[in-house]
Amino acid sequence: MNYRQTLDDLRELLREESDPIARMATIVALLKERHAKISWVGYYRRLSGEMLVLGPFQGPAACLRIAVGRGVCGTAAARREPLVVPDVNAFPGHIACDPRARSELVLPVDEGGELQAILDLDSYEPAAFDATDVEGLEPIARLTFPARRA
Ligand code: SME
Repeated sequence: MNYRQTLDDLRELLREESDPIARMATIVALLKERHAKISWVGYYRRLSGEMLVLGPFQGPAACLRIAVGRGVCGTAAARREPLVVPDVNAFPGHIACDPRARSELVLPVDEGGELQAILDLDSYEPAAFDATDVEGLEPIARLTFPARRA
């Protein structure tokens, strides 16, 4: 996947937009359109302490709420670290929003030192994602919230 090009294009597209939902919607649209392995990509936002709520996404309808600590998304949120799951059926507690999904990648997104959201990618291919994807997606996920001005 050419994450570098997507990063550059997103920087340009998001340059003048400060609203995080508009930014999330644009990020997931580009990822879904460009990266063939992705069956579903979207955000879950942390609205209150222990609950993640579905945000902008591309793909089939998905679970609306996930508790922090539950499933792949909630586990990555609780640990506040990226999680690559090559076989979702081997992940205890995986939440099967789409039974066709075989592998998954979740990136926590912080802002102001707090976990604000997670970015979730699913694929119908087993082991679709690895550390290279995490590396490529991290700077893209950092675009979720606009850079703070001094
Ligand atoms: N599989 C996720 C649930 C979210 S969907 O994949 C969109 C999980 O186990 O947290």
